[in-house]
Amino acid sequence: KEIFLKDYKKPDYLFDTVDLEFQLGDEKTMVTSKIAVSPGNEGTSSPLALHGCDLKLLSIKINGTELKSDKYTVDPRHLTILTPPAGVFNMEIVTEIYPQLNTSLEGLYRSTGNFCTQCEAEGFRKITYFQDRPDVMAKYTCRIEGDKTLYPVLLSNGNLIEQGDLEGGKHYALWEDPFKKPCYLFALVAGQLECREDSFVTCSGRKVTLRIWTPAQDLPKTSHAMYSLKEAMKWDEEVFGLEYDLDLFNIVVVPDFNMGAMENKSLNVFQSRLVLASPEAATDGDYAAILGVIGHEYFHNWTGNRVTCRDWFQLTLKEGLTVFRDQEFSSDLGCRTVKRIADVSKLRSYQFPQDAGPMAHPIRPLSYIKMDNFYTGQLLFLGAEVVRMYKTMFGASGFRKGMDLYFQRHDGQAVTCEDFYAAMCDANNAHLPNFLQWYSQAGTPTVKVTSSYDEGSQAFSLKLSQEVPPTPGQPMKEPMFIPVAVGLVDSTGKDMPLTSIYSDGRVQTLSNDGHPIFTTVLQFKKNEEEFIFNNVPERPVPSLLRGYSAPIRLDSDLTESDLYFLLANDSDEFNRWEAGQILARKLMFSLVADFQQQKTLALNTKFVDGLRAILRSTSLDKEFIAKAITLPGQGEIMDMMSIADPDAVHAVRTFIKKELAFQLKDDLLAAVTSNRSSEAYAFNHDSVARRALKNTCLAYLASLNEPDVTELALNEYKCATNMTEQFAALAALSQNPGQVREDALLDFYNKWQQDYLVVSKWFALQATSDIPGNVANVQKLLAHPAFDMRNPNKVYSLIGGFCGSPVSFHAKDGSGYKFLGEVVLQLDKINPQVASRMVSAFSRWRRYDETRQALAKAQLEMIISANGLSENVYEIALKSLAA
Ligand code: ARG
Ligand code: ZN
Repeated sequence: KEIFLKDYKKPDYLFDTVDLEFQLGDEKTMVTSKIAVSPGNEGTSSPLALHGCDLKLLSIKINGTELKSDKYTVDPRHLTILTPPAGVFNMEIVTEIYPQLNTSLEGLYRSTGNFCTQCEAEGFRKITYFQDRPDVMAKYTCRIEGDKTLYPVLLSNGNLIEQGDLEGGKHYALWEDPFKKPCYLFALVAGQLECREDSFVTCSGRKVTLRIWTPAQDLPKTSHAMYSLKEAMKWDEEVFGLEYDLDLFNIVVVPDFNMGAMENKSLNVFQSRLVLASPEAATDGDYAAILGVIGHEYFHNWTGNRVTCRDWFQLTLKEGLTVFRDQEFSSDLGCRTVKRIADVSKLRSYQFPQDAGPMAHPIRPLSYIKMDNFYTGQLLFLGAEVVRMYKTMFGASGFRKGMDLYFQRHDGQAVTCEDFYAAMCDANNAHLPNFLQWYSQAGTPTVKVTSSYDEGSQAFSLKLSQEVPPTPGQPMKEPMFIPVAVGLVDSTGKDMPLTSIYSDGRVQTLSNDGHPIFTTVLQFKKNEEEFIFNNVPERPVPSLLRGYSAPIRLDSDLTESDLYFLLANDSDEFNRWEAGQILARKLMFSLVADFQQQKTLALNTKFVDGLRAILRSTSLDKEFIAKAITLPGQGEIMDMMSIADPDAVHAVRTFIKKELAFQLKDDLLAAVTSNRSSEAYAFNHDSVARRALKNTCLAYLASLNEPDVTELALNEYKCATNMTEQFAALAALSQNPGQVREDALLDFYNKWQQDYLVVSKWFALQATSDIPGNVANVQKLLAHPAFDMRNPNKVYSLIGGFCGSPVSFHAKDGSGYKFLGEVVLQLDKINPQVASRMVSAFSRWRRYDETRQALAKAQLEMIISANGLSENVYEIALKSLAA
């Protein structure tokens, strides 16, 4: 059933308090829910409809008396109380559930013997009958009863107010959460867990106990997560004045989890990969992801929990904002430019393609069948870009004022994206015309820029035009408000001071309390607009969209030599990287055309020289260098072609890599040797940057497949003392098919087979490989004893990884499509959320040639006609076929 934003209605009934009782058992779990209900509107007499799914109803009482069966109806999705009493009343519902059989990993389920919950978005209805919607906020208590040996630890939200032993080897714990919350933030965990404990004293002197719970053997691997949590708590106080509000904060680690983690009030639940780390077994990438996600979930305490969403259409209100906050946190603790580059690359490889396909949707969708299908990059990462634009417009202090006003107005409420917009604008006495279009229009805007210089009047003009492409259901688009940050670079490579600008029929003087300004933000809000810079003494090279000030595709008239000039000189490091990327994209396109016309490929020497200069730089950040010498991904290039050609793009990218490796070999070798270190592993920017550069260079070298570099990679592999370097060496060795590859992969597996997180990496490495005939390898790995369809992590590594390799997944004979089609149907029976994430790989099938289209379409048709398909997979398959 499709649900529409426009149909939103306030709930007829409010829940004031919810008292839950769980009797945990191996065969069945009994859930008693006592709710104090009050009418939402004066004099409501409508039926009270409660959501429910996979529940066995044992009894309902209203004000203490059993409700007769003719006073309610039950269907597979609801329990409806036909004529609830007028005014305030109590309701008690007892249900029975079977967590041990729940493989969907939503609601209450078991993971390696322990009980745990995942309620967002609509999983609470799998625990008990309830108005499962975020605008129903109540105070909760939760009493948990279970076997003391099997489940020594019993956790829920808030404060532990009572615990004790019971007969029959059982015990109980009673938790009380003093804050009102929607049911999606409810959590329960029970099992054999131990904790690392620490504490944090907040700015107002509250001492908070911090606990991270894992199986005993993993405790040593939680120190980085604890460090990250304390840093996050400090950062939120310093940057946003936001302080933690309880005396206890728990994090629990579970191996089986659909998403990354969950921000349940004071009881965050994480999948293992995002908490557990040791230098030997986790990479720098893992360490960074842990820092970011621990921050993310912690930051939700204010942006998500204290102020939540009115309905699920507003999801970006909490996710976009919280992703923005975690990006800023990671930037402040690491390197801002490098973090920005990583985030923008992700946007280009995943969000832009999705926004140009059948699943395109605005960050506030208009309708959904399964909300879980809308935890997309659009809502999260594009949503974060929209939040970032407020900061770009209002500056850090204006943004902070807007946040302060948002909390002042809405603490304890369930609100909408307009409420956030209003707080931002009101706090800054501003109005941003057309800005709200970012919430309602799908599709990536393209902005064209043409420049001209008039020597006589010393005026430099930028003419901007924008176009938002049609997307499903939205043929016509309105212009958007686009902040374009611009600087003008003079012929010596220095930024020119900007004095005044003419637009909209008026002149604006640019100054910052008498200090010169070097970057200004143009407010571009019409289909076409011209901005004229005055007092420009010579023709400048414009540095456009500095720091990637808006999530758009930029199409400028900068020449190749302008771009090489910016690559070498721009004071905005992001735009130095960007200039290199634009040059690389141009190069790749022209080589793809050559490849398709069967011409010999040749690499332009200016490009090689540009990258050599970057590689040799001693002043640039090493991680920046690593990013700057990395070519745009295959997906990004295919996304920009009229008919995506995975074979051509792969061939060209491989050719450029090899050719660069060949021509830059000495510099690459020097970078590998000079960036070795014998120091103990540390996760700090300098060490991370050093390893990033060394590993990127090693990957280039390995593409040559020459004996001396193989020797080098083998040596790196053997000598590595941390996973970052060991895994990079393994990846280098496994680039080329052959015995060396096989031996290395086997050796690695034998070393690490006890550690399932490392084994997941091993799966992913093989799954994403571009070696010929990889479909068969991946098929074989499905039967590997370490693989398990029920564990989302392993599915994302192996199946998700496979779909991320265009040459294998889009194999011309359709073998990749057939493989995925079969896997999706198998997965759907186990876990619809995971199956639906996998099926999305098909959604862009129309972008390919006719042969591939027919093959992919056949798989989608096969899937959609299968019996007993979940709504999750159905929605994606349906929309992919329709568009
Ligand atoms: N709110 C969670 C986070 O920010 C996302 C989890 C959503 N889970 C789901 N199954 N839809 O990390
Ligand atoms: Zn989130």
